[in-house]
Amino acid sequence: LPCARARTEGETVPVDSCALVHPAPSAAAALRIGLLGLGQVGAAVAARVPALAPGGRRLTIAAALVRDPASRQRPEGIPIVTRIDDVFARRPDVIVEVLGGVEPARTLVLEAIARRIPIVTANKSLLAHCGDELLAAARLAGVPLRCEASVVAGLPFLSSIARRHAFRSSLVSFSGIVNGTTNFVLSRMEGTGADYDAALDEARRRGFAEPDPTSDVQGIDALEKLVVLLRHLVPASVDPRAIEVDGIVAVTADDLRRARGLGGTIKPVVHAAWGAGGLEAFAGPAFVPREHPLARLEGVTNGVALRDRSGHSLLFAGPGAGPDVTAATILDDVAAALDAVTERPVEAERREASHGRVAAPATGWLITLDGSRPLPSGPEVADLLGSCGVWIERAVYERGDTAGPASFLTYACSRDRVQAAMRAIEAAACCRASAWRALRGDA
Ligand SMILES: NC(=O)c1ccc[n+]([C@@H]2O[C@H](COP(=O)([O-])OP(=O)(O)OC[C@H]3O[C@@H](n4cnc5c(N)ncnc54)[C@H](OP(=O)(O)O)[C@@H]3O)[C@@H](O)[C@H]2O)c1
Repeated sequence: LPCARARTEGETVPVDSCALVHPAPSAAAALRIGLLGLGQVGAAVAARVPALAPGGRRLTIAAALVRDPASRQRPEGIPIVTRIDDVFARRPDVIVEVLGGVEPARTLVLEAIARRIPIVTANKSLLAHCGDELLAAARLAGVPLRCEASVVAGLPFLSSIARRHAFRSSLVSFSGIVNGTTNFVLSRMEGTGADYDAALDEARRRGFAEPDPTSDVQGIDALEKLVVLLRHLVPASVDPRAIEVDGIVAVTADDLRRARGLGGTIKPVVHAAWGAGGLEAFAGPAFVPREHPLARLEGVTNGVALRDRSGHSLLFAGPGAGPDVTAATILDDVAAALDAVTERPVEAERREASHGRVAAPATGWLITLDGSRPLPSGPEVADLLGSCGVWIERAVYERGDTAGPASFLTYACSRDRVQAAMRAIEAAACCRASAWRALRGDA
């Protein structure tokens, strides 16, 4: 069989020969999902399966792999197994990976690819850390690997943009809110004046935060999603460890109030811009001016604003991911993956992502000062910042600020410069300085 021999990297996969190796399911036969993971998302997928019939065909769960069958209540009628061989023994037409984490997900997905079984995954950690390896293996084997549900699953737009080459190649930057938990926390802090702990408690009570929210509040979840976005939208393959990331833990209700005074808010964003100068990106809380499309996304709402080289911007916004919307997107991916086996390989999987360095951008900064002593006067602050190469664009004098401004926006400069300026101000004025990156209104 043409597909049975090993292929070299980059070799074109004849579509018909793939169909020979992984026979197209007949119109009458049920399509069988091998489900890796039956937690929140896996159970939501299982609950939707009887309703789905892509191309008039029935979908069934061949088997669901779990760690411990007794660890939680399981949906009825699904064969539950604890060994991957018991999944493969049931000859699945497609593997849906919703285990989470890197291992054993990576090993199991590679094993499925080696067996030429199409893959659908919602696992951004896996893609952020092993995306290159998995996509190369899938390309070599000629099997689809789809991952629309791994980032902003409620806004399934990634693979369609990746396929629209002319549109995608006109893009020069994007900014996004891709983590509903942290957007909810900052929105509540701004809306009610609650402190960080109270807003996070409310998020937990309302089911918007995990019992352990570390990955969300430290920015890790957003960082991993940023890496997936970079792969689809630039396209660039970037090591997540090379990207600047900040959590929201240090943002205070006062910072949010002052951001409002400067004509914006603070949002948990991911941002990337690329061009002749290379690729720049960061993930973390940032000042977002009121006129920016992300400024009005409140609560658990997610959104990604794409900008093209003519300055036009396009906003995709909607509910953040939850098990149900994620399951719906996964099942769309299942249908597309099965179609790709019989029709044509998906463009996104054939496209090579460039392996690029990523730099932290020079942006404007929102700087806030807190201290019990009177703050330095405006000219003194300007001198201190200027001596570090940081220039004030706008400052706000609050009622009661007898001396100087407690918050200001700077012109674009590097993180190193702004940190030096903060140290200089803290030393001169015995105050605490905080700095948050600032997006421009059109960024
Ligand atoms: N939750 C969401 O709203 C959401 C949205 C978008 C994407 N995602 C992504 O979807 C994936 C799954 O998330 P989730 O919330 O469904 O996670 P979860 O509730 O923790 O479920 C994980 C499932 O995987 C199984 N599992 C984990 N490690 C295993 C191992 N070593 N061997 C066998 N089974 C193992 C668990 O088995 P047990 O049942 O025995 O514990 C459980 O069934 C993650 O990558 C997540 O980032 C989630």
